[in-house]
Amino acid sequence: MMKVDDAIVYGKSKVHSDLAKMLLADLMDVNSLELLTMLDEEVEEDVFNTYKYRVDELRKGRPIQYIIGTVNFCGNILEVNENVLIPRFETEQLVENTISKINELFPTGEFDLIDLGTGSGAIGLAIKKKMDRANVTLLDISEPAMEVAKRNANNLGLNVKYIINDMLENLSNKYDVIISNPPYIKNDEEIEDIVKNNEPHLALYGGVDGLDYYEKILRHVKENINDHYLIAFEIGDTQKEDILSLIAKYLSNYNVECLQDYSNRDRMIFIYN
Ligand SMILES: C[S@@+](CC[C@H](N)C(=O)[O-])C[C@H]1O[C@@H](n2cnc3c(N)ncnc32)[C@H](O)[C@@H]1O
Repeated sequence: MMKVDDAIVYGKSKVHSDLAKMLLADLMDVNSLELLTMLDEEVEEDVFNTYKYRVDELRKGRPIQYIIGTVNFCGNILEVNENVLIPRFETEQLVENTISKINELFPTGEFDLIDLGTGSGAIGLAIKKKMDRANVTLLDISEPAMEVAKRNANNLGLNVKYIINDMLENLSNKYDVIISNPPYIKNDEEIEDIVKNNEPHLALYGGVDGLDYYEKILRHVKENINDHYLIAFEIGDTQKEDILSLIAKYLSNYNVECLQDYSNRDRMIFIYN
């Protein structure tokens, strides 16, 4: 029978050794560090077969997050599958900065927040987890994505509302905070194969200039915000000026701030009043 050590050697011959260890550790219900204390232990045959299959999937270019089925976002373990975008590190920064901004603008009491294009629920659930005083609604047009978001909310024990809708079209509810990481890749932009071949195109592409969803949201947003509001967007690093123009087209008397990610690229816009 195969030992852990042999299984790692097998995996290493096919994929990066860290990834092989992550796959095996996940199947054996331990972390990668614990796995290294178990090198002489036996790997059951069915576990090894699943491992071999997963190593193969990885080699074929399937993201490890979809293979393992979970990702850690802002400290929350979220289920992910091919119906939802894999939440990105940049988006953790959007969550952190939005929480600071909410504390500044709405220092006490409850507030109503909607996460537009919620996917796995990553953003809305991270905010709910850190701010119990938030009344959070998750919105997406994709029913299979919303199923994932619902399971994530239940697994985290978070009580939130769900709306299946085309962004804000025909929605009359008003919110204090609107947050969105919409699809914003240009239709003809070259992106990595692992992203293009695996993640839902509905979650990636935002039209010819990548701006379609910002405009779609901003066009109606006046009817969906209270007098005192915050709108927080994640943006592509070349989109700042175009989005500032769209904001000026649809809103008046607002404050606006653009923040950079850790690589100093323009990645977040906050509009508030
Ligand atoms: C870039 S992903 C963001 C997912 C998640 N919020 C995150 O940050 O990881 C964009 C999401 O918008 C959703 N979406 C696309 N078109 C939409 C529409 N017309 N109305 C609502 N949601 C939409 C997609 O299904 C996808 O879940």
